[in-house]
Amino acid sequence: MTRPLLNTRLAGLGNSIFGEMSARALATKSINLGQGFPDVDGPPEIARAAADAVLAGHGNQYPPAIGIPELRAAVAGHQRRFYDLECDPDTEVLITAGATEAIAAALLALLEPGDEVIAFEPYYDSYVANIAMAGATRVPLTLRAPDFRPDLAELESLITSKTRLLLLNSPHNPTGMVLTRAETEQIARIVIDRDLLVITDEAYEHLTFGRQHIPFATIPGMRGRLVSVGSAGKTFSFTGWKVGWATGTPELVGAVRTTKQFLTFVSSGPFQYAIAQALDLPDSYFATLAADLKDRRDMFARGLREIGFEVYEPDGTYFITTDIAPLGEKDGIEFCLSLPDRAGVVAIPSVVFYEDNPDLGRTMVRFAFCKRAEVLREALDRLSVLAG
Ligand SMILES: Cc1ncc(COP(=O)(O)O)c(C=O)c1O
Repeated sequence: MTRPLLNTRLAGLGNSIFGEMSARALATKSINLGQGFPDVDGPPEIARAAADAVLAGHGNQYPPAIGIPELRAAVAGHQRRFYDLECDPDTEVLITAGATEAIAAALLALLEPGDEVIAFEPYYDSYVANIAMAGATRVPLTLRAPDFRPDLAELESLITSKTRLLLLNSPHNPTGMVLTRAETEQIARIVIDRDLLVITDEAYEHLTFGRQHIPFATIPGMRGRLVSVGSAGKTFSFTGWKVGWATGTPELVGAVRTTKQFLTFVSSGPFQYAIAQALDLPDSYFATLAADLKDRRDMFARGLREIGFEVYEPDGTYFITTDIAPLGEKDGIEFCLSLPDRAGVVAIPSVVFYEDNPDLGRTMVRFAFCKRAEVLREALDRLSVLAG
């Protein structure tokens, strides 16, 4: 057999450094600040609701293909409460296996082979794979240090007759960049002028620090062009439950539903009941989530700076991007591979998020700070061996 086993569109993808770094964290008893998941579960009453749903037989068999009515109504209520947006829970909301499936299903639904997709580089890793699966071509709008803001003149120059859609992520993983209202409106104007579609990954919508998240759906003229994606895993600290959603017009959501039907069909039955309840938590839950995280960002960023890292302070998400060049380091991969032995800490080399301009990420390293404050303090203590 001479043919490679892996589909050539996916060649070179899939050897996830996240898995390798998590394995090293276990083997070396390191503090794992690599993969983005909290070390404290979400609200106990929501965990209890999931357990109750299992025991009561709610969602143990295939739930409705578009998601249970309670959760679709709760997503619509969330959009109304936080953004003053109206969506019909029966035709404009689709429940998915996390934001990941919503993004994959939307890309597979909306793209034909040969289409071009503009996305922010550094990329959240599934984007690159999903665009490849659709047979489309990725076109980077590269975000550059120190502030990682998109150059909107460059965006305009990247649009060709083949451009089908923009795949946007704000708050942005891994940089923590949050689009401003002015940027959001300007991008929307470009999208309308050039007759494009948009998928917005808003997985970190509630994790912002001082800069408000502006959904594209609130910008006039975007209706009919936009699939918005949310993640319960990020908002409620239950990343293992994989509950997400897509919202948009009935036509767009219908297209996404058709591809989703042949990916997972349905998922997370009992967890859907629990997340319906979570979305009704009071405003104070959401405010406290962001405020607590901001305190940890401030403390961790300060500590890293004191050790000698250059720190690019994020306005959102639970990731901090740093540059290790001031520590005399030249290569993020080598640095991260040796860090468990040198300091007992695991981090991710940001170069893995760069596909098109890897040189830009060469000396950057990403830390996840969604861990308890004492864990972050211990990590800083261990990392201080790097201080010159
Ligand atoms: C930008 C971004 N989008 C989507 C996801 C995945 O969300 P979910 O766990 O809901 O599939 C992540 C997870 O890290 C992410 O960082």
